[in-house]
Amino acid sequence: MWKSLKQECMSCKKCPLWETRHNVVFGVGNPEAEVMFIGEGPGENEDLQGEPFVGRAGKLLDDMLRMIDLDRSRNIYIGNIVKCRPPKNRDPLGTEQESCIDWLYRQIELINPKIIVCLGRIAAMQMIKPDFRITREHGQWFDVDGRKCMALYHPAALLRDPHKRPDTFEDLMTLKQGIKDWCDTYNK
Ligand code: URA
Repeated sequence: MWKSLKQECMSCKKCPLWETRHNVVFGVGNPEAEVMFIGEGPGENEDLQGEPFVGRAGKLLDDMLRMIDLDRSRNIYIGNIVKCRPPKNRDPLGTEQESCIDWLYRQIELINPKIIVCLGRIAAMQMIKPDFRITREHGQWFDVDGRKCMALYHPAALLRDPHKRPDTFEDLMTLKQGIKDWCDTYNK
């Protein structure tokens, strides 16, 4: 199922972004993970390497994950709202998100994560609610179709504005506790 979904996705031409992409960035990590991270869309490095979050923001994300014992090669899965790079790193258009989102929903259905973490405003608006306000609502838990869902500031925003980092540290502690609570409840 997973393999065929990936194969199908890799040749997607549902929106015009296929014309400028080098790679479809399907996602990375453990498809059996209980925790899934969702970013916005690939940047230049991700487009060239075919993997999410491999640039500077990706290095910061890996550092943040390590702080709470998460690791993309072990216990999480990382995907994006759109799987092809929007030119010049602009925000993905509504039409591009609409064309692409079904791939992500199919990934979520197969992975069946108990916890979803949105990275940044675009992912939170798509996954949690259209009027999501990242400055006010980061680090709060929401119920989305029975899954615990929260948003963190996007790592690129943390690189641009280091003043946001203490808030993100708190949010990571909230996330760690949420994962622990889930593990305790289900004896994992
Ligand atoms: N930013 C994102 O939102 N996703 C990536 O994969 C890389 C950078």
